[in-house]
Amino acid sequence: MMAIYLAKAITLAMLALQMVSCTPNTNVTSVLCNSGVYTSGDPFGASLSYILSDLEAVTPTKKDRDYRNISPYPNAFAYGHAACNAILSESDCAACLTSANASMFASCDMRIGARCVLYDCNVRYEQYPFND
Ligand SMILES: *[C@@H]1O[C@H](CO)[C@@H](O)[C@H](O)[C@H]1NC(C)=O
Ligand SMILES: *[C@@H]1O[C@H](CO)[C@@H](O)[C@H](O)[C@H]1NC(C)=O
Repeated sequence: MMAIYLAKAITLAMLALQMVSCTPNTNVTSVLCNSGVYTSGDPFGASLSYILSDLEAVTPTKKDRDYRNISPYPNAFAYGHAACNAILSESDCAACLTSANASMFASCDMRIGARCVLYDCNVRYEQYPFND
């Protein structure tokens, strides 16, 4: 009887530890904003919304938690890349990217390019193709 309780207690303790170690670290490492701004009527705004929603939705579903894409609308392309620490679960990756997006917008509202690096994930968008 005692042994069963002990085994249960150990299992619970291990689960609790695992849950703690899986929490994404959303501490901000750096946020960089392009000094260029776009205006509210600029079609780039729609392209940017598209690409950020796409990155946030698709990146967590990728096996390596790494994804890039280009907005589909003509005239004003937004190129985006997002990645999470590959050991993060799908939901932790999504949560981390939500934090990254919020931190990015807090510093870089209406910018033509920006990147935000958190400890466990990063997001970047530009009006031109880039490799990192
Ligand atoms: C995040 O940053 C805070 C403040 O610098 C620090 O106390 C905390 O330990 C950091 N969290 C992790 C998970 O690194
Ligand atoms: C990113 O943050 C902005 C500003 O808070 C918000 O309007 C937008 O909906 C967010 N986008 C995503 C994909 O979370």
